[in-house]
Amino acid sequence: MISTPTTNCFPPLVGRDRTVRTIFGNEVEYLDADAAATTRPLEIVQEKVLEFLSTYGSVHRGSGANSRLSTEIFVAAREAMLDFVNASSDAAICITSNTTAAINKLRRKLNLRSERGDCVVLSEFEHSSNDLPWRALNPVRIPAGDDGVLDLDVLKREVIHRQGSGRTLVAVTGASNLTGALMPIREIAFLAHCAGAMIFVDAAQLAGHRAIDMQGARGGDYLDFVAFSGHKMYAPFGAGVLIGDAKALGQTGPDDIGGGTVDFVTLDTYDLASDIFRRENAGTPNAVGLVAMAVAAGMLKKTIGFEDIELHEQELLDAARQRLSNIKGLRLFGELDYSAARKCAILSFVLEGHDHALVAARLSHEYGIGVRHGHLCQFAYVARLLGLTPRQISQTRDVVISGNRDAMYGVVRASFGLGNRIEDIERLGEALEEIAATPKREQLYERNETGEWLPREMVPQNASEFFLFGK
Ligand code: ALA
Repeated sequence: MISTPTTNCFPPLVGRDRTVRTIFGNEVEYLDADAAATTRPLEIVQEKVLEFLSTYGSVHRGSGANSRLSTEIFVAAREAMLDFVNASSDAAICITSNTTAAINKLRRKLNLRSERGDCVVLSEFEHSSNDLPWRALNPVRIPAGDDGVLDLDVLKREVIHRQGSGRTLVAVTGASNLTGALMPIREIAFLAHCAGAMIFVDAAQLAGHRAIDMQGARGGDYLDFVAFSGHKMYAPFGAGVLIGDAKALGQTGPDDIGGGTVDFVTLDTYDLASDIFRRENAGTPNAVGLVAMAVAAGMLKKTIGFEDIELHEQELLDAARQRLSNIKGLRLFGELDYSAARKCAILSFVLEGHDHALVAARLSHEYGIGVRHGHLCQFAYVARLLGLTPRQISQTRDVVISGNRDAMYGVVRASFGLGNRIEDIERLGEALEEIAATPKREQLYERNETGEWLPREMVPQNASEFFLFGK
């Protein structure tokens, strides 16, 4: 047992009393260990969203009381998001649907071209969303050390090597969604700027865990661009943001053209708005999503404070070291000294001899524990961590693209946030030990056509009732 269980006293998340029925028929408290994929909203975020909706009106497009109030709150939300990342006064903000959309927007805005000598430098372990958008530029990939952090010496060599031969963008995640490893983004930014490169931080995983400071502490370690989403920072209302240097973001025409992007229109001409925010945010914005993000941002940065979040994650990681590291056959990936200064509370592992998808299914259906499993949108890095050969990867690919997803390799990931308590680690540890000790129970499951393991006698969920309302 863990010796000093503590009670998490952070503001509550929506749905904290959720229970689920296991395949054995008992009702258990749901343990959400999937914060790296998405988070439920903080209760205060939900409350403020409802308050905003109670006087909701057209943003930037009306003169009624609701419209004016909504516009003022929306403008304040934009300012709050800039403050959240300590953006400089000349930074622009674009509202997107999520981080992936923000990165694709950055690609279009920067318009890098390899034929002009432009280049993108990535780490080896970028999420697909910060990898695929850059593929046309043949990105350079900086390898990771055993601790899951990119090799700064190789990065330095690469950016210096490219100095003067076009524009270079170093595009790295702030925290790995697989190992939780925190990237030394200040050092990376400094190296990039010393070599005349720009830096973009995919802060999707970072935003809910650690403070983001775009301006930096010493000259040269500022961040040119960051992107992140509400759904990983307790505000899942469909918004994300791209924040960064207004001049760079404004150098190409708007992605979308239409209402709000123009100052004047005739039947033959139109004049684009000079204000970058208006040019890059066509149509009525997702004000609800941005307001939710701004409330969550205020909670994380000011009310709770990132110092306390880091302390909480340190407690979770200490508990994980004590409880999980001795489980027979459990192999954890990434930074293993469990320091919250270097790692978010994200644990990816395999249970030797057990299929990752089946372990995840059993955690859910037997223990009420929700995790993610599989490639985690990092196909190549997961393959490397699992020690797969190029031939094994190629064979797996052939089988998977032929429609058989059962063959997909992967890991199991338990990821934690504000809603978790130290006791959750004990519960996860007990469940994993029991799973390892009861392989015969695997016969209770069968795969469905998408490759997911489900209990042969499935406990029905109530999705069909969700839309039964009114008369
Ligand atoms: N990027 C999210 C994850 O890692 C969806 O699960």
